[in-house]
Amino acid sequence: LEAAFQPKLLAGKKVLLTAGPTFERIDAVRGITNTSSGKMGFALAQAVREAGAEVVLVAGETALSTPLDARRIDVRSAQEMLTAVEAEVDAADIFISVAAVADYYVLNQSEHKIKKDAHILTLELAPNTDILAKIACREQPPFCVGFAAESENLLEYAEAKRRRKHLPLLAANLVQQAMGADDNEVILLDDDGEHRLPRGPKLDVARRMVSHIAKLYAKQGK
Ligand code: CTP
Ligand code: CA
Repeated sequence: LEAAFQPKLLAGKKVLLTAGPTFERIDAVRGITNTSSGKMGFALAQAVREAGAEVVLVAGETALSTPLDARRIDVRSAQEMLTAVEAEVDAADIFISVAAVADYYVLNQSEHKIKKDAHILTLELAPNTDILAKIACREQPPFCVGFAAESENLLEYAEAKRRRKHLPLLAANLVQQAMGADDNEVILLDDDGEHRLPRGPKLDVARRMVSHIAKLYAKQGK
């Protein structure tokens, strides 16, 4: 009963999240994408809602249903995700970037379906904008939280990523453990060092992440 009267951790705050994969078009029927179920991002959106914040969830294509009371904006490509994030970010106190954004888009896209033949088909790939890095280096950024999906050298690569993108907080996870699974195990990296969260269902991990985010946010402010 007492818990019901305690102020929620993120009451009155606005949180913007990205989740899921992006899809980069090759032609009318084909594309390249990143592997991501969207589960971790959607779990975070739910945990943030539970903590009393207003949620805007920019989502790539997933089969998941929207967490209760979150405002969801569906996007397909990384460019569309960037446009949606830039339209929403001014109002956000916190930005949590969980999406598996494709690092490249196809330069030589074709409007019509490419007909197959016996020749080698070459795709030209150009780098996408790094959405999180772009938001984090604004003059007055929201409190930015990133993820690092690594397949090896987890802590070393993740901490380098956190510094490169100027993030107060980054969640490191191994793709072998996280991808598509219902459970996850993350290590939070911040200026105080490493914080290992217990392995568990993505919603449990998300709830622990939200308490850590709320603590840091309260300390550092906006
Ligand atoms: N990210 C982003 N926009 C991109 C690429 C990544 O916002 N174009 C965000 C992801 O949502 C994640 C963080 O940046 O929060 C790290 O993504 P990750 O793919 O692990 O790292 P990259 O910086 O893209 O480097 P690499 O893929 O080479 O490891
Ligand atoms: Ca990447």
